[in-house]
Amino acid sequence: MERRFALVPGDGIGIDVTREARKVLEAVAEVGSFRLELEEFDYGADRYLETGETLPPDALDRFRTFDGVFMGAFGDPRVPDMKHAAEILLGTRFKLDLYANVRPVRCLHDPLCPLKNYKASEIDFVVFRENTEGLYVGMGGIFKKGTPDEIGIQEDVNTRKGVERIIRHAFEYARAEGRRRVTMSDKSNALRFGHDIWQRVFAEVASEYDDIESNHLYVDALAMQMIKNPKQFDVIVTCNMFGDIVTDIGAQLQGGLGMAASGNLHPGQASMFEPVHGSAPKYAGKDVANPFGAILTAAMMLEHSALGEPASWIESAVRSCLEAGECTRDVGGGLGTAASGDAVVRHLERPSST
Ligand code: NAD
Ligand code: IPM
Ligand code: MN
Repeated sequence: MERRFALVPGDGIGIDVTREARKVLEAVAEVGSFRLELEEFDYGADRYLETGETLPPDALDRFRTFDGVFMGAFGDPRVPDMKHAAEILLGTRFKLDLYANVRPVRCLHDPLCPLKNYKASEIDFVVFRENTEGLYVGMGGIFKKGTPDEIGIQEDVNTRKGVERIIRHAFEYARAEGRRRVTMSDKSNALRFGHDIWQRVFAEVASEYDDIESNHLYVDALAMQMIKNPKQFDVIVTCNMFGDIVTDIGAQLQGGLGMAASGNLHPGQASMFEPVHGSAPKYAGKDVANPFGAILTAAMMLEHSALGEPASWIESAVRSCLEAGECTRDVGGGLGTAASGDAVVRHLERPSST
């Protein structure tokens, strides 16, 4: 058994946390006795500033040859327009047509849950964020730039095909995982065109899944309910922009941005995995960033390539580290980034029953 993964550490703390994800992947391959080939790519701000190149022309074709692509984070103060991040991160999502951005919201340790009278186990849902359309398509322009009359237009693109496939994916996931309910969130009370499509397509698709409950919340109400009563959620499906925002709220329910993992999928095709957090430039290279979100992201990548058991060993090891306080300060420990990765490796074990 062999798996090949591409690693793109990127910028800032993306580099710090990818190093730990790599360490844990190598260790779990040893514990699980499977072969692993990891290839690193230096796409990011440094390379862009040196060469002017963001993604080389053959990058996406090379990514397609791997079992999964792992990306750290992109964003560097020297590139204020985020050109490289747009081309590397959004370019990969769009050009590989990774329409499902899957962001689990699971709290692994009681003290990390910020809500009163809530247990960690009660925070357990998955957000399906549409990942190829919406406000992110880059359609628009600036008119009369730099004048007092300037106008910035950013189009919100919602296609029936795009909306239908992410909603269907959410229902399929709910069915496959034994989840009870799918909640769709939009802003169709104000966005009468783009989000009217979400309303109609959701009703149509939901009617095909009698075994799954469906409900709807406007996104402002969703944000409120995620804090007030998150245990009501199983699966949430929403558009690109709202998915970005509500998954940062979701990250706080898990213990912060340093804990949140995600996958960018197109079933049957190459996939890309990344922690939810960004490059946090002020922490870059300081050995303080929490690597657990990246490590859990690496576990998601294994699970997606039919290595569910090793993925579960990683998650157990992360839980053990949190319980032992062997983690970074943001999640209650006193370790640095590298020592937290080492701690996960130490706690990795194959359960004796398997
Ligand atoms: P950020 O996620 O980088 O950091 C926000 C704050 O969250 C940090 O200051 C820190 O307090 C906390 N944080 C994030 N990750 C952490 C970790 N692993 N451990 C401990 N604390 C952590 O978001 P930002 O400051 O809004 O953005 C910084 C840059 O990253 C920007 O250029 C932004 O565009 C980019 N960004 C990139 C991605 C990505 O590549 N996937 C995602 C989000 C933001
Ligand atoms: C994320 C990030 C990106 C997004 C940025 C960096 C473009 O915030 O992955 O959550 O908005 O998708
Ligand atoms: Mn985000």
